[in-house]
Amino acid sequence: MNEKVKDIKNKFESDLKNVKNTKELNELRVEYLGKKGYIQKLNPLIKDLSNEEKKEFGKSLNDIKNFISKELEELKMKLDKKELEEKLVSEKIDTSLPATKFSKGSIHPLTKVRREIEEIFISMGYDVVEGPEVEFDLYNFEKLNLPKNHPARDMQDTFYVNDEVLLRTHTSPVQVRTLEKSEGDIRIICPGKTYRRDSDDPTHSHQFTQVEGLVVSKDVSLSHLKGTLEEFAKKMFGDSVKVRFRPNYFPFTEPSIEVDISCFKCKGEGCSFCSKTGFIEILGAGMVHPNVLKMSGYDPEVYRGFAFGMGIERVAMIRHEINDIRDFYTNDIRFLNQFNRKGGLEDEA
Ligand code: PHE
Repeated sequence: MNEKVKDIKNKFESDLKNVKNTKELNELRVEYLGKKGYIQKLNPLIKDLSNEEKKEFGKSLNDIKNFISKELEELKMKLDKKELEEKLVSEKIDTSLPATKFSKGSIHPLTKVRREIEEIFISMGYDVVEGPEVEFDLYNFEKLNLPKNHPARDMQDTFYVNDEVLLRTHTSPVQVRTLEKSEGDIRIICPGKTYRRDSDDPTHSHQFTQVEGLVVSKDVSLSHLKGTLEEFAKKMFGDSVKVRFRPNYFPFTEPSIEVDISCFKCKGEGCSFCSKTGFIEILGAGMVHPNVLKMSGYDPEVYRGFAFGMGIERVAMIRHEINDIRDFYTNDIRFLNQFNRKGGLEDEA
């Protein structure tokens, strides 16, 4: 009987020598220790043996099982190690190879410039307030001293939802909403999308974005407005920039002014960029008209305010020498990528 066990042992030892990998090793395990394996096949023989022989045969069966398991286990460890080493060599990463390029999205240039403008005013103590783009005629015009049929409405024609509801032409209605809700001092900027019934060309777009500001207090004056806008211009366009104020007309401010900055290209000498004037117009501003204050519950005898408004596209176009406003909206990736480079507007998460 023990001969049979011995034969199996010999066959196993020679089979084991031929094993080259873990797959073959597993096959060998099944062949010997599996349910239909050589060892299991010896089990039925036990019943024909005497008690004495049974004991002896049982022991040698156990021994051979343990022997095979141990041998298989040892070889498995060796093979695992070898296979891991081979894998590490074959899958070695060549860190000198160029990385796979994947395209990365970026913040839109208008968003970047809007955030910069916001940062400047936040540093001066302003709150950022937003309002609806679909607005009542009441807030967009009437409460800004622009009653129905006022000729100045022609400068800001828009898209009407109905007689009383329209797409806002500026973010000034947010200032009116804030005036209505507030008592006492106000210091806000209102960024957001605006619309006008304009034919699109390099400098006009039916859709654009603005940041407007409003300060209300008992003792604000035009000189505060001047100081604020000079500070803003220096932070936005650099310390050497000169600021010029010209009289203008807006129905909601009195007096009204137009603000220009010295041309950054020719430093005020006059060039093609500034149409030989040395200055570039950047925003409109003025002292809040007493009617506007009164209509929203402020006593103009006690409170005064200044307001200003600028187009974010215009600021971005001046700063980055972009000559077509439509580039902001046509989503040409080649245009947008220019702002994603080092030396363009800084990268942001
Ligand atoms: N709301 C004006 C516009 O969109 C800008 C402006 C704001 C002018 C505040 C004066 C004061 O044209």
